[in-house]
Amino acid sequence: MPLRQRSTLTQYLIEERRRFPDSKGEFNALILDVALACKAIARAVAMGELGGLYGDHAAQEGGAINVQGETQKKLDVLSNELFIRVNEWAGHLAGMASEEMTDPYQIPGKFPRGKYLLVFDPLDGSSNIDVNVSVGSIFSILRAPQDAIDSGRDLVESDFLQAGATQLAAGYALYGPTTMLVLTVGNGVSAFTLEPNLGEFMLTHSNLQVPADTQEFAINASNSRFWEPPIKRYVDECLAGKSGERGKDFNMRWIASMVAEAHRILMRGGVFMYPRDTKDPSKPGRLRLLYEANPIGMIMEQAGGRASTGREPMLSVTPTGLHQRIGLVFGSKNEVERIERYHSEPATREIDNPLFAERTLFRA
Ligand code: F6P
Repeated sequence: MPLRQRSTLTQYLIEERRRFPDSKGEFNALILDVALACKAIARAVAMGELGGLYGDHAAQEGGAINVQGETQKKLDVLSNELFIRVNEWAGHLAGMASEEMTDPYQIPGKFPRGKYLLVFDPLDGSSNIDVNVSVGSIFSILRAPQDAIDSGRDLVESDFLQAGATQLAAGYALYGPTTMLVLTVGNGVSAFTLEPNLGEFMLTHSNLQVPADTQEFAINASNSRFWEPPIKRYVDECLAGKSGERGKDFNMRWIASMVAEAHRILMRGGVFMYPRDTKDPSKPGRLRLLYEANPIGMIMEQAGGRASTGREPMLSVTPTGLHQRIGLVFGSKNEVERIERYHSEPATREIDNPLFAERTLFRA
């Protein structure tokens, strides 16, 4: 398609901004800086082994374990650095928080401070880096508390503990066969494909909608013995296929790169579950509320899908910690609602007893 028939990310943002005549363009500039960081990460990822960036970050270079207790990869560290350097200088941000940093990042004194907070997971799915499977960056933009904007004070953890419903924008970049940027600024979801020759994100998908129904689910089934009964029930019913309660066969996928699963679900529907489980009582879930669940939750909801803890809408959860983990279920609306329904039904229900299955005299 000729270039002029496609919008660039910049054109898209300018058109979106026309809805807010008073805006000064800082928000757009911030998103363009985030997109620049993502392009730089895409290049580093694409170099693979040739870039010398595969493998674990060496302990002598400052520690190989992050605040999550996970081994940091060299590319995790580089991606974090790129996010910081590209976004710290322009005066749009009051501060940042990253999955890779224990504390909030304070904008250095030599730069002006602004009104937004940038929260990010610089490289999600990093266990996949060294095997050349898709990974991505996830980000969320919040407004800083008014007193922090007015005073320009240093930020504290509580400044970031805002429910997902307050996010102003959320997105992810997917470093797959093509690099894509998926973005919501609260007015639906659009996706941009990186045109590598121009170095521009071009609008390729407008108004994305997650189909309400699906026959595809994603879960790490090696954790099944730790699942709570509602999840076990849901997965058992999917596995039973045509001959079971659901009366249809389901397909299963697990990439172990949440951003890649989110993208598949955005494009063709599906349900993703990394639910709360009993594997490690100190971790109520695997994924992070601020860097993963909330931004992906906003994208799903903006695309007509749903995101939930299983018990309540993800975007209504009030965070209690910067690195809080949470059970996460998202994707096709009717499936997520079904999983929520299974959670809300009485715990005494004997799920393995066929008398209590969906198509019985006990059905609501
Ligand atoms: O850090 C999060 C993450 O890498 C997700 O992208 C992914 O869904 C998940 O962890 C994979 O977990 P597991 O190793 O249990 O499959």
